[in-house]
Amino acid sequence: MKHIEFTIDGKTMTAKPGQTILKAAEAHGVYIPHLCAYKDLIPHGSCRVCSVRCNGRIQAACVQTVSEGMIVENDTPEIHEFRKAILDMLFVEGNHFCMFCEKSGQCELQALAYRFGITAPQFPLLEPERELDMSHPDVYLDHNRCILCGRCVRVSQDLDNKNCFQFVGRGHRKRLKVNGEALAETDLRVTDAVVASCPVGALMKKRVGYAIPIGERHFDQQPIGHAIEEKNS
Ligand code: SF4
Ligand code: FES
Repeated sequence: MKHIEFTIDGKTMTAKPGQTILKAAEAHGVYIPHLCAYKDLIPHGSCRVCSVRCNGRIQAACVQTVSEGMIVENDTPEIHEFRKAILDMLFVEGNHFCMFCEKSGQCELQALAYRFGITAPQFPLLEPERELDMSHPDVYLDHNRCILCGRCVRVSQDLDNKNCFQFVGRGHRKRLKVNGEALAETDLRVTDAVVASCPVGALMKKRVGYAIPIGERHFDQQPIGHAIEEKNS
Protein backbone atom coordinates (compact mmCIF):
# COMPACT_ATOMS: atom_id res chain seq x y z
CA MET A 1 0.00 0.00 0.00
CA LYS A 2 1.39 3.39 -1.00
CA HIS A 3 2.00 5.70 1.92
CA ILE A 4 1.33 9.41 1.84
CA GLU A 5 3.90 11.85 3.20
CA PHE A 6 2.81 14.96 5.04
CA THR A 7 4.07 17.17 7.86
CA ILE A 8 2.70 18.13 11.26
CA ASP A 9 4.41 21.13 12.84
CA GLY A 10 7.34 20.61 10.47
CA LYS A 11 7.82 16.90 11.21
CA THR A 12 7.47 14.54 8.26
CA MET A 13 5.04 11.67 8.80
CA THR A 14 3.29 9.04 6.74
CA ALA A 15 -0.37 8.16 6.48
CA LYS A 16 -2.35 5.39 4.84
CA PRO A 17 -4.58 6.43 1.94
CA GLY A 18 -7.90 7.65 3.33
CA GLN A 19 -6.56 8.10 6.85
CA THR A 20 -7.68 11.22 8.69
CA ILE A 21 -5.18 13.72 10.09
CA LEU A 22 -6.31 12.77 13.61
CA LYS A 23 -5.68 9.05 13.15
CA ALA A 24 -2.41 9.52 11.26
CA ALA A 25 -1.15 11.91 13.95
CA GLU A 26 -2.06 9.47 16.71
CA ALA A 27 -0.23 6.67 14.92
CA HIS A 28 2.90 8.84 15.20
CA GLY A 29 2.35 9.73 18.85
CA VAL A 30 0.97 13.21 18.18
CA TYR A 31 -2.13 14.03 20.20
CA ILE A 32 -4.71 16.27 18.57
CA PRO A 33 -7.35 17.24 21.17
CA HIS A 34 -10.83 16.06 20.23
CA LEU A 35 -14.24 15.48 21.79
CA CYS A 36 -16.89 14.28 19.36
CA ALA A 37 -14.58 11.79 17.59
CA TYR A 38 -14.87 8.42 19.29
CA LYS A 39 -12.93 5.22 18.71
CA ASP A 40 -13.46 3.95 15.16
CA LEU A 41 -16.91 5.41 14.61
CA ILE A 42 -17.26 7.45 11.43
CA PRO A 43 -16.42 11.00 12.58
CA HIS A 44 -18.88 13.78 11.90
CA GLY A 45 -16.80 16.83 12.80
CA SER A 46 -19.20 18.72 15.03
CA CYS A 47 -17.24 19.99 18.06
CA ARG A 48 -14.26 21.50 16.16
CA VAL A 49 -11.95 20.94 19.13
CA CYS A 50 -9.67 19.01 16.76
CA SER A 51 -9.21 22.03 14.48
CA VAL A 52 -5.80 22.32 12.83
CA ARG A 53 -4.49 24.62 10.14
CA CYS A 54 -4.15 22.47 7.08
CA ASN A 55 -2.49 23.92 3.94
CA GLY A 56 -3.37 27.33 5.35
CA ARG A 57 -7.02 26.64 6.17
CA ILE A 58 -8.66 25.68 9.45
CA GLN A 59 -10.01 22.11 9.15
CA ALA A 60 -11.34 19.48 11.53
CA ALA A 61 -8.59 16.86 11.86
CA CYS A 62 -11.08 14.08 12.63
CA VAL A 63 -12.76 14.31 9.23
CA GLN A 64 -10.06 15.75 6.95
CA THR A 65 -8.07 13.01 5.23
CA VAL A 66 -4.35 13.37 4.62
CA SER A 67 -3.10 14.20 1.14
CA GLU A 68 0.42 14.09 -0.29
CA GLY A 69 2.57 17.00 0.84
CA MET A 70 -0.09 18.37 3.20
CA ILE A 71 1.21 20.85 5.76
CA VAL A 72 -0.58 20.60 9.11
CA GLU A 73 -0.16 23.04 11.99
CA ASN A 74 -1.29 21.57 15.27
CA ASP A 75 0.79 22.88 18.14
CA THR A 76 0.83 26.62 17.48
CA PRO A 77 -0.33 29.55 19.67
CA GLU A 78 -3.06 30.37 17.14
CA ILE A 79 -4.54 26.85 17.15
CA HIS A 80 -4.18 26.65 20.91
CA GLU A 81 -6.24 29.84 21.35
CA PHE A 82 -8.82 28.65 18.81
CA ARG A 83 -9.39 25.38 20.66
CA LYS A 84 -9.38 27.11 24.02
CA ALA A 85 -12.15 29.44 22.86
CA ILE A 86 -14.25 26.43 21.73
CA LEU A 87 -13.75 24.72 25.08
CA ASP A 88 -14.65 27.91 26.89
CA MET A 89 -17.87 28.18 24.89
CA LEU A 90 -18.79 24.58 25.73
CA PHE A 91 -18.44 25.38 29.42
CA VAL A 92 -20.55 28.54 29.45
CA GLU A 93 -23.23 27.14 27.15
CA GLY A 94 -24.26 24.48 29.69
CA ASN A 95 -24.23 24.10 33.47
CA HIS A 96 -21.00 22.37 34.43
CA PHE A 97 -20.45 22.19 38.18
CA CYS A 98 -17.21 20.24 38.00
CA MET A 99 -16.60 20.20 41.75
CA PHE A 100 -19.87 18.32 42.36
CA CYS A 101 -19.99 16.26 39.17
CA GLU A 102 -19.75 12.48 39.41
CA LYS A 103 -17.64 12.47 36.27
CA SER A 104 -15.01 14.80 37.73
CA GLY A 105 -11.56 13.34 37.17
CA GLN A 106 -12.89 11.14 34.38
CA CYS A 107 -14.45 13.87 32.23
CA GLU A 108 -12.82 14.64 28.88
CA LEU A 109 -14.09 18.24 28.82
CA GLN A 110 -12.66 18.92 32.28
CA ALA A 111 -9.40 17.19 31.33
CA LEU A 112 -9.10 19.34 28.21
CA ALA A 113 -9.73 22.45 30.29
CA TYR A 114 -6.82 21.45 32.54
CA ARG A 115 -4.64 20.79 29.52
CA PHE A 116 -5.44 24.22 28.10
CA GLY A 117 -5.01 26.00 31.43
CA ILE A 118 -8.64 27.12 31.64
CA THR A 119 -9.39 28.13 35.21
CA ALA A 120 -12.35 30.50 34.81
CA PRO A 121 -14.82 31.23 32.01
CA GLN A 122 -13.83 34.03 29.65
CA PHE A 123 -17.38 34.38 28.27
CA PRO A 124 -20.57 35.15 30.25
CA LEU A 125 -22.29 32.07 31.69
CA LEU A 126 -25.59 31.44 29.88
CA GLU A 127 -27.03 29.34 32.74
CA PRO A 128 -29.71 27.67 30.63
CA GLU A 129 -32.61 25.81 32.21
CA ARG A 130 -32.13 22.15 31.39
CA GLU A 131 -33.78 18.91 32.45
CA LEU A 132 -32.53 15.94 34.37
CA ASP A 133 -34.02 12.62 33.25
CA MET A 134 -33.88 10.15 36.14
CA SER A 135 -36.68 7.92 34.81
CA HIS A 136 -34.48 4.94 33.87
CA PRO A 137 -33.69 2.45 36.68
CA ASP A 138 -29.96 2.28 35.97
CA VAL A 139 -28.91 5.27 33.87
CA TYR A 140 -29.61 9.00 34.03
CA LEU A 141 -29.35 11.79 31.50
CA ASP A 142 -28.41 15.26 32.73
CA HIS A 143 -28.97 17.75 29.93
CA ASN A 144 -27.16 20.44 31.96
CA ARG A 145 -23.88 18.73 31.16
CA CYS A 146 -24.61 17.61 27.60
CA ILE A 147 -22.22 19.21 25.09
CA LEU A 148 -24.16 17.84 22.10
CA CYS A 149 -21.16 15.88 20.85
CA GLY A 150 -23.38 13.22 19.33
CA ARG A 151 -21.32 10.25 20.49
CA CYS A 152 -24.37 8.68 22.13
CA VAL A 153 -26.44 9.07 18.96
CA ARG A 154 -23.83 7.27 16.86
CA VAL A 155 -22.81 4.63 19.43
CA SER A 156 -26.43 3.68 20.08
CA GLN A 157 -27.00 3.23 16.35
CA ASP A 158 -23.67 1.81 15.20
CA LEU A 159 -22.48 -0.27 18.17
CA ASP A 160 -25.67 -1.10 20.09
CA ASN A 161 -27.89 -1.42 17.00
CA LYS A 162 -30.54 0.66 18.73
CA ASN A 163 -31.76 4.18 18.25
CA CYS A 164 -32.10 5.53 21.77
CA PHE A 165 -30.91 9.09 21.04
CA GLN A 166 -31.29 11.71 18.37
CA PHE A 167 -30.90 15.45 17.96
CA VAL A 168 -33.81 17.82 17.51
CA GLY A 169 -33.76 21.53 16.67
CA ARG A 170 -31.03 23.61 15.10
CA GLY A 171 -28.47 26.19 16.19
CA HIS A 172 -28.87 27.24 19.81
CA ARG A 173 -32.17 25.26 19.96
CA LYS A 174 -30.42 21.96 19.18
CA ARG A 175 -31.08 19.41 21.94
CA LEU A 176 -30.54 15.74 22.62
CA LYS A 177 -33.80 13.81 22.60
CA VAL A 178 -34.47 10.27 23.72
CA ASN A 179 -36.56 7.90 21.66
CA GLY A 180 -39.67 8.20 23.86
CA GLU A 181 -41.05 10.59 26.44
CA ALA A 182 -38.22 9.73 28.82
CA LEU A 183 -35.15 7.48 29.04
CA ALA A 184 -37.16 4.71 30.74
CA GLU A 185 -39.28 4.38 27.59
CA THR A 186 -36.30 3.55 25.40
CA ASP A 187 -34.75 0.09 25.09
CA LEU A 188 -31.50 1.35 26.65
CA ARG A 189 -29.73 -1.17 28.90
CA VAL A 190 -27.02 -0.29 31.39
CA THR A 191 -24.72 -2.76 29.61
CA ASP A 192 -25.02 -0.96 26.26
CA ALA A 193 -21.80 0.51 24.84
CA VAL A 194 -23.45 3.92 24.71
CA VAL A 195 -23.40 4.33 28.48
CA ALA A 196 -19.59 4.51 28.57
CA SER A 197 -19.30 6.70 25.48
CA CYS A 198 -20.34 10.07 26.91
CA PRO A 199 -17.23 12.25 27.34
CA VAL A 200 -18.82 14.30 30.13
CA GLY A 201 -21.19 13.60 33.00
CA ALA A 202 -24.38 13.79 30.96
CA LEU A 203 -25.11 10.10 30.44
CA MET A 204 -24.18 8.24 33.59
CA LYS A 205 -24.77 4.97 35.41
CA LYS A 206 -26.68 5.32 38.64
CA ARG A 207 -25.32 4.24 42.03
CA VAL A 208 -21.63 4.25 41.05
CA GLY A 209 -20.84 7.96 41.47
CA TYR A 210 -17.69 9.00 43.36
CA ALA A 211 -16.60 5.34 43.52
CA ILE A 212 -12.98 6.17 42.62
CA PRO A 213 -11.14 8.28 45.24
CA ILE A 214 -9.66 11.65 44.24
CA GLY A 215 -6.09 11.03 43.15
CA GLU A 216 -6.90 7.68 41.55
CA ARG A 217 -9.36 8.84 38.88
CA HIS A 218 -8.28 8.43 35.26
CA PHE A 219 -7.19 12.03 34.60
CA ASP A 220 -5.68 12.39 38.09
CA GLN A 221 -3.15 9.82 36.98
CA GLN A 222 -2.25 11.26 33.59
CA PRO A 223 -3.38 14.24 31.49
CA ILE A 224 -5.65 13.71 28.53
CA GLY A 225 -3.62 12.75 25.46
CA HIS A 226 -0.82 11.24 27.53
CA ALA A 227 -1.42 7.70 26.29
CA ILE A 228 -0.93 8.86 22.70
CA GLU A 229 2.03 11.15 23.36
CA GLU A 230 3.75 8.41 25.32
CA LYS A 231 4.26 6.55 22.01
CA ASN A 232 6.44 9.47 20.89
CA SER A 233 8.67 9.66 23.95
FE1 SF4 B 1 -22.46 13.79 23.91
FE2 SF4 B 1 -23.04 12.78 26.31
FE3 SF4 B 1 -24.58 14.72 25.27
FE4 SF4 B 1 -24.64 12.29 24.24
S1 SF4 B 1 -25.30 12.84 26.33
S2 SF4 B 1 -24.51 14.20 23.08
S3 SF4 B 1 -22.53 11.59 24.48
S4 SF4 B 1 -22.41 14.90 25.85
FE1 FES C 1 -13.16 16.66 15.33
FE2 FES C 1 -15.07 17.03 17.16
S1 FES C 1 -13.30 15.79 17.29
S2 FES C 1 -14.84 17.99 15.21
